[in-house]
Amino acid sequence: MLTTTRQEQTPNRPALPPAATELGAAEALSRMDPPMVVVTTATGDAAAGCLVEFSAQVSMDPLRYLVAISPANATFRVACAADRIAVHTLGRGQLDLARLFGEHTGDEMDKFDHCSWSRVDGVPVLDAVPSWFVGRVLQQWPLGDHVGFLLGFLRGSVDGAGVDGAGVDGATASLSASDVEGLSAGHDA
Ligand SMILES: Cc1cc2nc3c(=O)[nH]c(=O)nc-3n(C[C@H](O)[C@H](O)[C@H](O)COP(=O)(O)O)c2cc1C
Repeated sequence: MLTTTRQEQTPNRPALPPAATELGAAEALSRMDPPMVVVTTATGDAAAGCLVEFSAQVSMDPLRYLVAISPANATFRVACAADRIAVHTLGRGQLDLARLFGEHTGDEMDKFDHCSWSRVDGVPVLDAVPSWFVGRVLQQWPLGDHVGFLLGFLRGSVDGAGVDGAGVDGATASLSASDVEGLSAGHDA
């Protein structure tokens, strides 16, 4: 009787390279350099915001954006009760804003006492950032140790002008993950 192994039946199938392990996946992810954003949100009397690495546009038509927020964050508790979230890019030189929103928690300080902002559609929008938009929260999903908030686009601003109309010099290149490698999160995930 003729017997063949699975490998012999698919001779063109390449063997997995030795580095294709979970460790390899973590290494591959660490080499991506996603933009860092600051998300802010508010309910009637509470405002919150944090630095976020896990976010992306996920649909063109309709325009949709997904933000992943850790339930450990003060921002998560406010976001769950809010119907809008603002997403801001940061300029390369805006490490101070990244530190304020990424290394401190709203459980211990009011971050909005330490930056310039304006209220747009009920949400605190940072004045001096290259671009921002306010989105309506359409859905939430557990995504592992973070929760995904799907946003529909409401309004936004680009070209380095904050809501106060002031340009942001040298802020055209977005701050990305490699720019904030030394930062320590204000909350464990
Ligand atoms: C480099 C970096 C990336 C981060 N990415 C995320 C993220 O994608 N989602 C998230 O919920 N928190 C993220 N954090 C953590 C929060 O920004 C941080 O814990 C913040 O202090 C929470 O503030 P809050 O408690 O006022 O919400 C990140 C922090 C750093 C330093």
